[in-house]
Amino acid sequence: MKQPDEFWWRHGVFYQIYPRSFQDSNGDGVGDLRGIIERLPYLVSLGIDAIWLSPIFPSPMADFGYDIADYTGIDPLFGTMADFDALIAAAHDGGLKLILDLVPNHTSDQHPWFLESRRSRDNPKRDWYIWRDPNAAGGPPNNWLSEFGGSAWQYDAATGQYYYHAFLAQQPDLNWRNPEVRHAIHEVMRFWLRKGVDGFRVDVIWHLIKDAEFRDNPPNPSFREGRPPHEQILPLRTTDQVEVHDAIAEMRRVIDEFPARVLIGEIYLPTERLVTYYGRELGGAHLPFNFALLSAPWNARAIEKIIHDYEAALPQGAWPNWVLGNHDRPRVASRVGQDQARVATMLLLTLRGTPTLYYGDEIGMHQVAIAPGQVRDPFEKNVPGIGVGRDGCRTPMQWDAGRFAGFSTSTPWLPLSDDFVHENVVNLQADARSILNLYKALIGLRSNLPELMIGSYVPVAAQGDLLIYRRQSEVDALVIALNLGDQPTSISSEAAALRGEILISTFLDRRGEKIKDTVDLRGNEGVIIGVLGAQPG
Ligand code: GLC
Repeated sequence: MKQPDEFWWRHGVFYQIYPRSFQDSNGDGVGDLRGIIERLPYLVSLGIDAIWLSPIFPSPMADFGYDIADYTGIDPLFGTMADFDALIAAAHDGGLKLILDLVPNHTSDQHPWFLESRRSRDNPKRDWYIWRDPNAAGGPPNNWLSEFGGSAWQYDAATGQYYYHAFLAQQPDLNWRNPEVRHAIHEVMRFWLRKGVDGFRVDVIWHLIKDAEFRDNPPNPSFREGRPPHEQILPLRTTDQVEVHDAIAEMRRVIDEFPARVLIGEIYLPTERLVTYYGRELGGAHLPFNFALLSAPWNARAIEKIIHDYEAALPQGAWPNWVLGNHDRPRVASRVGQDQARVATMLLLTLRGTPTLYYGDEIGMHQVAIAPGQVRDPFEKNVPGIGVGRDGCRTPMQWDAGRFAGFSTSTPWLPLSDDFVHENVVNLQADARSILNLYKALIGLRSNLPELMIGSYVPVAAQGDLLIYRRQSEVDALVIALNLGDQPTSISSEAAALRGEILISTFLDRRGEKIKDTVDLRGNEGVIIGVLGAQPG
């Protein structure tokens, strides 16, 4: 029997699907599992290797599925377990891996565990959550703040105690210091792993353990008005506690009970803290998500420094990864502009390490403006008007120019972008030089060229708007030259050994062009050059 490739996640390209917004199959305006099955041929045609689904489990949807009421079921909105089984079989048939979202930090307040826990102080599940007495004045136990606004403590009059919730009050945090909780979540993991899922993206993994003594968080001296209120304190006691690494190592051991599965962690931390999540002797997450590009100032020096610092901080043997967008952050096309989005794509798909794409970025989807009456995101509802809303990056996928963009036969749960008549999969597929075809071409190159897949990263230059680096295998090298500005520029061989041939331009119109000593770049252009006679570095 053929052994599964244990390290597929190093070589593959991941693609995040936000299931509510990908494809609706039953006309209720919300995407579902059958819809994803219908669109598998599209995903295969992109050339990606794995899909990650945001949560599909039974949920009151207070945080659109990140509030789970049953870890081993499927929410009827998304379909049935039979649909899930059909999806995993079809994905695997198409050569795609399937990654689920695991949300172990908190449950829904409607989860049977929490319903029991809140029943009485001596309920056997009381300690599965984080309950504390009021402070001396009768207020919350300490100054911890919820990421979605207000105190992180919710008073429960029936039992006279507060429970902790890092996010909504409807999302009580589980007590990860309790071994029964750990065991229960491990069993959840095994349930899905036995079904054949190829791994998990673990939600807010750096939050799992909180300070054992419940000490206050210190004030944040750099807090600025206009920022989300929870940033007034530094989450020193509520996140990134040293004991979290033991909890993650245990999860990893569960993953390792099954061949060729992957553990990805959602972690927003500075690089030097982030890389500790690979774990002692790499026994933590295989891929602690690297979100550095999500907030990168869009200039060559800043980006080169981000790459350099990350590469330098990686523990021996740790595999890098990069992300340009997700369901919590503004779309890349809006952050860097439509023109630079192509350059950003070339960056993402030519850096060393596993890239994760966000659905719709491949067709250049931008942030969609959400009118006040259309807001669905609880973060925006609780903390209105300062731009934290996440609805604008979660709008329906734009498949075609038909009514509702081919996403649904009825009004979608979030508004469609008003440019969908042009900016849609059908149109962009037909346009040989579209961003969609750029994505496909870059993914294709990446999976065919060992330099891109596993070659080393060698910085070359970061001057003005120009970012240049090499990707090098034992025999061959590529030069990637990105113009992060809108003015033309040229690079001479003094800056980089360039003799060779253009393999691809972000405009998809220079393939095969020979390069001798200089290469001229148009504004907003990036190129990959296959260089001749490259010396292994
Ligand atoms: C993660 C999810 C986000 C969710 C939060 C609480 O950050 O990505 O969407 O709101 O966790 O579960």
